[in-house]
Amino acid sequence: MDQIVIRGGQRLKGRIPISGAKNAALTLLPCALLTDEPLTLRNLPRLADVDGFGHLLNQLGCSTTIEGSRPEDFGRVMTARTTTLTSTVAPYDIVRKMRASILVLGPLLARAGEATVSLPGGCAIGNRPIDLHLKALEAFGAEIELASGYVKAVAPGGRLKGGKFTFPVVSVGATENAVMAAVLAQGTCVLENAAREPEIVDLCNCLVAMGASIDGIGTETLTIEGVDRLHGATYRVMADRIEAGSYACAAVITEGDVELVGAKASEMEATLSALRQAGATVEESKTGIRVAMSGRADPVTLSTAPYPGFATDMQAQFMAMATLGSGASLFTETIFENRYMHVPELARMGCDIDVRGRSAVVRGVDHLVGAPVMATDLRASMSLIIAGLAAQGTTEVNRVYHLDRGYERLEEKLQAVGADIERISAG
Ligand code: UD1
Repeated sequence: MDQIVIRGGQRLKGRIPISGAKNAALTLLPCALLTDEPLTLRNLPRLADVDGFGHLLNQLGCSTTIEGSRPEDFGRVMTARTTTLTSTVAPYDIVRKMRASILVLGPLLARAGEATVSLPGGCAIGNRPIDLHLKALEAFGAEIELASGYVKAVAPGGRLKGGKFTFPVVSVGATENAVMAAVLAQGTCVLENAAREPEIVDLCNCLVAMGASIDGIGTETLTIEGVDRLHGATYRVMADRIEAGSYACAAVITEGDVELVGAKASEMEATLSALRQAGATVEESKTGIRVAMSGRADPVTLSTAPYPGFATDMQAQFMAMATLGSGASLFTETIFENRYMHVPELARMGCDIDVRGRSAVVRGVDHLVGAPVMATDLRASMSLIIAGLAAQGTTEVNRVYHLDRGYERLEEKLQAVGADIERISAG
């Protein structure tokens, strides 16, 4: 298996191009199941999960073609076309490897009136149930059965009827599935307490470009008037606010000065305000956001929350940053029950972190020391990269496949701003 090797201590300086957002791409791709016309997505990141989703679409009868795969291009263009659905089943083998596969449930149900999707099960960061996905679809008229590890959903008469669902807790995935199911319903679907993440705005804007009628985009109440059919569209995937935030943390911990090219400040206010809390200079530039730091980071107090709150996907990276801070930082994780898997690995590099249930106290230390480390999920792996960039000596990050799921050409982007980082291929 590949490894990433970092010799820490280099100050990051320069421009980092921000890729298309993984979490937007993975909810825009299943939109190709909703129409028989082509959906062309621009600025798609080159990531293992995007490729994996393409394979899943292929299994369902969607043909995909990719352009712009020259090595020097960031971002690709994919055209996906589902002239006819050839299957409405997302099998266990695919769903267990890629949780986002659950997002075909809504579109398949909308287009074919039925869908059979494997239950994804738990994962490293927590239990991650899908009950709210199912309840929202039921509220719109779906009949759902669970059997042998699969969800079988049917729309009686071939089409969902519409209805109203209020989410008891904000769920990004369930909001996405419900919106994609609702756009072809035979009535009005209302979602209350819906997630408002920028990736959901991106999804709704793409669906509108395909002919959907959605009111309240970007608010917690979405009203979707079903239409008889959707058409093709060309849509550009938004910039990855989590990737941008991750590199911002790397800039702060190395006392660097970077421009996150293509990042949009309005989509990542909570992250930018956390960076300012740490003492960083954060400025919007013509082409992105500049983040600069001198000296040790000030301590931060951060609690994860649904958007517009501080993203759970940024918690591990800020924690890594805080390990070299000038005092004690306090983190509270409210979204997932098991999202401190990076702590024991960071501890191996000399960090002082005390986890108590959902909270963690990080006491800044004077220096970190490189070590062989590995992580069990994507953002946790990024926290190890961030710590490694500032650690004395060599850090070897193992299980690089987690990073490949979510960070496009990580080592290339970091090398270009001065990091001493390389990938050692297993051959
Ligand atoms: C979540 C994050 C998202 C992040 C992604 C990957 C939030 C609100 N969501 O999205 O920002 O990009 O993980 O790290 O921050 N839940 C249920 N039943 C369901 C669905 C969810 O109880 O059917 C609960 C979850 O256990 C969790 C909360 O709702 O506590 C939010 O989960 P959800 O937003 O659905 O998770 P993801 O879509 O994976």
